[in-house]
Amino acid sequence: MLRRGILKLVHLLALVVCVSAVGDFDWTRNEKTSFYYGTFPTGFLWGVGSSAYQTEGAWNKDGKGMSIWDVFAHKKGKISSNETGDSSCDGYYKFKDDISLMKEMKLNHYRFSISWPRILPSGLKSEHINEKGIKYYNDLIDLLLDNTITPVVTLYHWDLPQVLQEKYGGWQNESMVSYFNDFADLCFERFGNRVKHWITFNNPWSISVEGHETGEHAPGLKLRGTGAYKAAHHIIKAHAKVWHTYDMKWRSKQKGLIGISLTADWGEPVDMSNQRDIEAAERYIHFYLGWFATPLFHGDYPQVMKEYVGRKSGQQGLGASRLPVFSPQEKSYIRGTVDFLGLGHYTTRYVTEKNYPSGFGDSYFADRDLAELVDPQWPDPGSEWLYSVPWGFRRLLNFVKSQYGNPMIYVTENGVSEKMLCTDLCDDWRMQYFREYINEMLKAIKDGVNVKGYTAWSLLDSFEWDEGFSERFGLYFVDFTNKDKPRYPKASVQFYKRIISSNGFPNQREVESWKRKAVETCSSSNQLLAADPLIGHMEMVTEIVVPTVCTLCILLSAVFFMFLLRRRL
Ligand code: NOJ
Repeated sequence: MLRRGILKLVHLLALVVCVSAVGDFDWTRNEKTSFYYGTFPTGFLWGVGSSAYQTEGAWNKDGKGMSIWDVFAHKKGKISSNETGDSSCDGYYKFKDDISLMKEMKLNHYRFSISWPRILPSGLKSEHINEKGIKYYNDLIDLLLDNTITPVVTLYHWDLPQVLQEKYGGWQNESMVSYFNDFADLCFERFGNRVKHWITFNNPWSISVEGHETGEHAPGLKLRGTGAYKAAHHIIKAHAKVWHTYDMKWRSKQKGLIGISLTADWGEPVDMSNQRDIEAAERYIHFYLGWFATPLFHGDYPQVMKEYVGRKSGQQGLGASRLPVFSPQEKSYIRGTVDFLGLGHYTTRYVTEKNYPSGFGDSYFADRDLAELVDPQWPDPGSEWLYSVPWGFRRLLNFVKSQYGNPMIYVTENGVSEKMLCTDLCDDWRMQYFREYINEMLKAIKDGVNVKGYTAWSLLDSFEWDEGFSERFGLYFVDFTNKDKPRYPKASVQFYKRIISSNGFPNQREVESWKRKAVETCSSSNQLLAADPLIGHMEMVTEIVVPTVCTLCILLSAVFFMFLLRRRL
């Protein structure tokens, strides 16, 4: 009796502490201020990112097992133009060249991911460890350190061993929690003497929603209204277990940090004077970022998710909520399991309330009762979903500060794409994007947000998941049509390099000269690229052959039309 009473009291106290840690975010205060000239705190870290499946290639080499992405990409109709990551940038073979590129840029860190099936082909530590895979990551880490580049390692960037998907149903099955923990433990054992920054999961929102709700991503499941919630539940538990393993077994020896990388768009209320729009925008963020961040910082799902999914499940005649429930023990186990928060951010949406009546069909999207809108004036150079809205970044960072007790943040992803056919290395749009987004991050730091580092996405053009190679996020252009996969610097390489060497934006005169200078250097790279016979061929097709054929068609139709007219007269 007494024990139960004490337990209850402890829970109550925890709840009070947790609620008082959640500050209020001022929705109405959206300052869209002009460019801020200034520098970042000393020791601020600058880096670039990549992931295994997107860049390594060598999909079936040196004993690597299949991942769900290898299998998914080989199925017809899943990826744009049926492309695969089989060879991609050949990063597995060219990592030395890539490290030289990073050294040239004077980067502080490189974020990459370890392919689980490359080191554990069947997914299980108890079955077989692929020493060739281990050697590859050892060599990569050692060379980075030799070049004073800090490795920031993601354990799961979406490439689950296929065997685990087939045998157990992957993230739909709770057994993944301990299999993932064994894999992580092996990584700590083999690499932890040199790696001090670990990211358990990359973008669990995408794994859950795109992999298990809409099926656009591997494993391609369309379990609407349930699959995403279940996958997320197991991912959160897996993250917490890995954090505890590190804490108990490795932390005192290795002195590293364990974080997670959450990606979220910002949601801005359409009408700031309408309380319901503000609530809809808040729901948008809680269903995106809060879904994962709130359990990890405060021990449970956001109240608003529990309410909405619970109510909708009831209306659908279900006996229990489709959103799984954490037991009290699980809540205290997962709470506080982030040493730093990795944050990925690209874009913003306007949000307004929209009621989805029950019977509309279960889905994560209908559960939120909201609609997303965009401003057609926002620039969108590449990916369809990616509008450049720099002020949203500052808003998101301040939101994180207010909700999760101002945690240590590393920006783990931020960048912009262009379309595949664009072979212009003078990427003005990317320089503009970096300049403005990084500046908003600087303003957020001035607001008191605890951001310690920034990772530009990505080092190279690479396999952009279901979009194949049709969208290019790289600072370096990769010529995928050439079997050597040569890399060419875009102008943004020079631009980012200047930001890094000045640790920010020293003054107007200097910053304005950066773009000009970067464009000067990129014209020579453009010439190099044009000299590449294959690219030359591509350009000939798009710039000469297509227009000529079109003109001929028009001329021929005109002649034919005149001929017809004459016959009639
Ligand atoms: C998030 C993913 O983590 C990354 O793999 C992808 O390339 C970028 N977004 C851009 O879509």
